[in-house]
Amino acid sequence: MRRPTILVTGAAGQVGFELARLLAAHGDVVAADRARLDLGNPDAVVGAVRGAKPGLIVNAGAYTAVDLAEKEAEKAAAINARAPGILAEEAKRIGAALVHYSTDYVFDGNRTTPYPEDAPTAPLNVYGATKLGGERAIAAVGGAAIVFRTSWVYGRRGKNFLLTIERLAAERDELRIVADQVGVPNWCRVLAEATARVVGGGIPALAERAGLYHLSSTGTASWYEFARAIVGDAAKPRVMPITTAEYPLPARRPAYGVLATSRFEAAFGFALPLWEDALARCRSEPADLLPG
Ligand SMILES: NC(=O)c1ccc[n+]([C@@H]2O[C@H](COP(=O)([O-])OP(=O)(O)OC[C@H]3O[C@@H](n4cnc5c(N)ncnc54)[C@H](OP(=O)(O)O)[C@@H]3O)[C@@H](O)[C@H]2O)c1
Repeated sequence: MRRPTILVTGAAGQVGFELARLLAAHGDVVAADRARLDLGNPDAVVGAVRGAKPGLIVNAGAYTAVDLAEKEAEKAAAINARAPGILAEEAKRIGAALVHYSTDYVFDGNRTTPYPEDAPTAPLNVYGATKLGGERAIAAVGGAAIVFRTSWVYGRRGKNFLLTIERLAAERDELRIVADQVGVPNWCRVLAEATARVVGGGIPALAERAGLYHLSSTGTASWYEFARAIVGDAAKPRVMPITTAEYPLPARRPAYGVLATSRFEAAFGFALPLWEDALARCRSEPADLLPG
């Protein structure tokens, strides 16, 4: 069988970087970072798909600056809502499959038990609203598309909570971390590995399972608990719990964003590791194997 071409957008991002590497086992990867494909430019999106003629598009590019999005709603909407719709249309036109990522921030966080895929959405911020727009645009096209909602992505590169806490831990005696927002930290490599495993089952099998899935490690944590796990047993810094009200940010965040993953597990036959185990694995990576 011919190896498919796999177009990966956002290929310099946390998830995109890992995907571009891991998906090479399953096809010829066209790794398009923002310089190569600006998702905010509809003509460029169409041109990239028509140029690459992929059998699979994996859209890891996104406008992920949650607070800045409050001021850049139009830009965020172009990248997070309109581009996924164009990718879905172009994929359908050429019989390609699409894998896309969304977020727990489509929910308002008022639940206290894990969100199933069909729970009502009600984003609290612009980022969440634009990501919901992307989900809807893909669903409206109705092609062979899989949408994975995930949460709290971190890794050894880019901007994320793990790297921020590691930096602050070296600088400060005390860290004050929000304890009243609960979710699940997800290592970008685990998300990419899960995607690669799904893709490895073949594009027809993937197309048969088109739909919306929650893809997340298991367990739960507050940001405070996540920070404590990062700092570990070190005497310094002290990690102190605070409330969201004590750490105001431009964008509101859901208080609870745990995603129920049973639909994914039933469809694809495996679960992601506990978040603590994924974090330990991430942090045990030898430095010379770290990308970026
Ligand atoms: N990060 C999280 O906590 C989180 C949580 C839930 C869901 N997700 C979703 O998971 C997916 C992967 O996110 P991630 O954590 O890997 O995010 P990320 O590290 O911020 O990567 C996103 C990539 O998209 C790129 N990008 C931004 N604007 C673009 C544009 N106009 N054209 C092309 N590329 C553009 C970014 O480039 P620049 O760096 O140059 O801007 C970045 O390389 C996204 O769909 C995201 O919404 C993320």
